[in-house]
Amino acid sequence: MRVTVVGTGYVGLTTGVALAYLGHEVTCIDKNPAVVESLREGRPPFHEPGLPELLRATYRSMQFGTQLTPEAAGADVLLICVGTPTQANGDADLRYVEAAATEIASMIPEGADTVVVNKSTVPVGSARRVASIIQDGLAHRGVQAQVAVASNPEFLREGSAIYDMFYPDRIVVGATSSGPIDRLRRLYEAILEQTFTPPSGIPRPDSRELPVFVTTTPTSAELCKYASNAFLAMKISFANEIAGIADRVGADVTEVMRAVGLDKRIGLRYLGAGAGWGGSCFGKDVRALLALGDQYGYEMPLARGTLEVNMRQRRVVVEKLQQALKVVRGSTVALWGLTFKPNTDDLRDAPALDVARRLVELGARVRAHDPVGMERCRREHPDLAIEYAETPLDAAQDADAVVLMTEWETFLHVDWGAVAERMRERVVIDGRNVLDREMLTRLGFRYWGIGR
Ligand SMILES: NC(=O)c1ccc[n+]([C@@H]2O[C@H](COP(=O)([O-])OP(=O)(O)OC[C@H]3O[C@@H](n4cnc5c(N)ncnc54)[C@H](O)[C@@H]3O)[C@@H](O)[C@H]2O)c1
Repeated sequence: MRVTVVGTGYVGLTTGVALAYLGHEVTCIDKNPAVVESLREGRPPFHEPGLPELLRATYRSMQFGTQLTPEAAGADVLLICVGTPTQANGDADLRYVEAAATEIASMIPEGADTVVVNKSTVPVGSARRVASIIQDGLAHRGVQAQVAVASNPEFLREGSAIYDMFYPDRIVVGATSSGPIDRLRRLYEAILEQTFTPPSGIPRPDSRELPVFVTTTPTSAELCKYASNAFLAMKISFANEIAGIADRVGADVTEVMRAVGLDKRIGLRYLGAGAGWGGSCFGKDVRALLALGDQYGYEMPLARGTLEVNMRQRRVVVEKLQQALKVVRGSTVALWGLTFKPNTDDLRDAPALDVARRLVELGARVRAHDPVGMERCRREHPDLAIEYAETPLDAAQDADAVVLMTEWETFLHVDWGAVAERMRERVVIDGRNVLDREMLTRLGFRYWGIGR
């Protein structure tokens, strides 16, 4: 099939490259010339494991551009994958989606038969909004074309985006007629039937059930994305709420939540207590759900509490440091991890940044290390008054505390004996509950987890 992807960020590029790998003819459009230049050379513009290899294998068969052309707009499927950031009132900002729809409408050629797909996370009603922008645009140009709009929310996780693209639990398509549903079923057929040869390094998991193809209305498809993210965010916030009480009664939240999660009705995933979630999706999508509730005069206390608990966790990390050091002013803190989670360079809404800012406000000297996020942090947060260290050990030099904010693999294998020798005081705040408390205690560290 001929596929055009509009917006090649984490979602658009992963989707485009995976579809090209599956044999589709893919054109990727991004309005950022630096992104397109990088893609034309076969280099992903962001960090995502497995993506460089897959792009190297596919980019010669793909087209890249900064502008839609009539040819690209006449593809069988057009996937809108642009950003939908939060507006001041919490609602998703549809400006980029609307701009993409307007550009598509201005380029669709006479006689085209295409399905335009909202893959971006968009508020309820957006499929209808995109359809009307396109119909108005075509009418204005006097162009006759068959254009259907479908909603196809994306559920990939940064850090394992390629895996999620090839081995999803489900593919959700919302449309008002069977034509676009059938076309998208064909687009994803190899994934739905698992008939492709797995890309090297991304093996098909054993005993995997086939993905479920969920077909529904655009409104339900749009709402299911928000509901999914709110639920995952709520699981983590729930674990964090229990962590607070575990701290007070002297329980270990990691053991408590393991016991809870082993109940198959609940499941073990997304129950890790710690510094809380970040990233471009959970906060934005929970806020958008709350904004939707507001529009209908409907209070959503679970979604509100999910956000509140999450923001509190960032303060908890700093409070633990205050308890450990007593006086934070004048201390040196090694901040391990900047990105919102491991295996990505994404710093959007990263808890580490809030913690760093607060520590600087409190008068600490913050020395950060992150395996991939430092360059981007320097660039995107020039106001952040922290120092950057080349290695975790360098960050710990003469430090009074190590604060672990992102559970990068590299932090799990550091030589703690060497860390101890470099530090002025041996305090560890484990913001992800991933370190070996007993080993650290043996080495003379005072260990503080979250809810342990
Ligand atoms: N990142 C995730 O993990 C994830 C997961 C699921 C869903 N989503 C959703 O997918 C959407 C995209 O997210 P992302 O993280 O990939 O965003 P991103 O910010 O990484 O990428 C968006 C890209 O779109 C480009 N763009 C914007 N307007 C354009 C236009 N008119 N024409 C061409 N290009 C344009 C930008 O230059 C940018 O490169 C959002 O709605 C997000 O909520 C994201």
